[in-house]
Amino acid sequence: MNFELKSLELAKADHERCDALIVLVPDAGGHKTRPGTGVLERLLAESLTAGDLETKAGKLLSLYRHPGVAATRVVLAGAGDASARQIRAAVGAAVSALKGSNVKRLCLCFAFTPTEASVQAAVKAIADASYIYTTTKSKPEGRKLQKVLVGVPDAGAMDQALVRSAAAVAGIELAKEWANRPANHATPAMLADAARALGKLPRIRCEILGPREVTKLGMGAFLAVAKGSEEPLRFIVLHYDGASRAAAPVVLIGKGITFDTGGISIKPAPEMDEMKFDMCGAASVLGVFRALADLKPAINVVGLIPACENLPDGRAIKPGDVVTSLSGQTIEILNTDAEGRLVLCDALTYAERFKPRAVVDIATLTGACVIALGGVRSGMFASDDDLADDLSAAGESSLDLCWRMPLDDEYAEGLKTHFADVANVAGRAGGAVTAAKFLQRFSAKFAWAHLDIAGTAWKSGAAKGATGRPVGLLLDYLQAQARKTMPVVPKKAPRAAAVRKTVRKAA
Ligand code: BES
Ligand code: MN
Ligand code: ZN
Repeated sequence: MNFELKSLELAKADHERCDALIVLVPDAGGHKTRPGTGVLERLLAESLTAGDLETKAGKLLSLYRHPGVAATRVVLAGAGDASARQIRAAVGAAVSALKGSNVKRLCLCFAFTPTEASVQAAVKAIADASYIYTTTKSKPEGRKLQKVLVGVPDAGAMDQALVRSAAAVAGIELAKEWANRPANHATPAMLADAARALGKLPRIRCEILGPREVTKLGMGAFLAVAKGSEEPLRFIVLHYDGASRAAAPVVLIGKGITFDTGGISIKPAPEMDEMKFDMCGAASVLGVFRALADLKPAINVVGLIPACENLPDGRAIKPGDVVTSLSGQTIEILNTDAEGRLVLCDALTYAERFKPRAVVDIATLTGACVIALGGVRSGMFASDDDLADDLSAAGESSLDLCWRMPLDDEYAEGLKTHFADVANVAGRAGGAVTAAKFLQRFSAKFAWAHLDIAGTAWKSGAAKGATGRPVGLLLDYLQAQARKTMPVVPKKAPRAAAVRKTVRKAA
């Protein structure tokens, strides 16, 4: 799908040739006060006066081959208060309504002055609503939409917003693709191949470790999980070099359980298929690297993906087994279904070697997080307040929301055991928090955050499929970090005289 930007007022949109034109109409007050003379402007005014067009986000009024309008279809879409969030809802509804029709060229325009945030929300929502998974279909009916034209008053002013959101879309769609693939089409080795392909993009390098290297390193917790499967594990290391070699990187760690049966502590059959999504953290890391290659922010990023299956077998780990992690800490595996934290703890210890400025792990870690927060916000745990604030802000700006959860030490009580340094599970109560407390034991050497995306990474039921979250959040976080370390140079350089004066004062 191809996104283009064009300077286009609503009055001129009458003449825009396309298969469908979506016009976003905000609540009264958001409109231009000047009464328009164009066909669309008149239609808009009349339908609002008649009460046939409601401006609540999600409300639509559709037209077909309307005289005086070049677009074959027109969808007038209520955009509520015109906030980025309501624009996302409005565009989502409009694109979904067009899904059955043969729309190859889509044009979007605004009955108000859009901000950069409006454009970004709209572009991401168009992509999200028109996405179709095809990889394992014998007669793929892919996305019909080929070209999207975004009409804004001043195209030059929105250029960066379009470029950034198009890059985010490429990353989100790569994450969706890998997450949606069934486990036999997304094995640890196949994920490694996907990472290797990313390694060919500018500024990106990739290293893959296999069972031999991981054994040699001493990742006893990761190895324990992989033992029950015939599919060999992979430990994927991605580097994005956007800043000087001396700059400490941000490390992203994605849980890559390509299928989670629960192991010997096996899961019940209903909905077990959804455990193919247990590598959504890994998929989000791949998606982020895909987008970084386009965005080229001035920051260094390392991506780590421990990838394996969690299966029951004659060689599988058993409840009560004790293993030694890469950190040296011994772990009693009381429940083999709490495998995510086992693969992540060794990746966290591996991250120490990069002397990172921050480490963020991303994992479909607990059913308890789904109960706590549902599908709206990801659970966010952080040992560092600045990191927590930065991730919250990135969640808001990208509309890929998260919510900070507690890490009080009392939550770790249940992880105590007589037989090892720590157990891999506590009781049922506060399951998302106790999982985070387990991970925190392996992250003492850096600023650390954990995103539990069990509720947000995919949708169940009729709309079953990956969401691509939290690629949007992570990209906004990394770009904000890059701006922090490399502040934007002001356009106008200070006058020489003024500079001289400050120098003298400072001396
Ligand atoms: N991958 C699951 C978490 C999960 C379950 C995500 C359902 C989304 C929906 C994870 O490996 C797991 O099985 N966690 C257990 C932990 C428990 C044994 C302490 C869980 O949440 O039940
Ligand atoms: Mn599990
Ligand atoms: Zn799992």
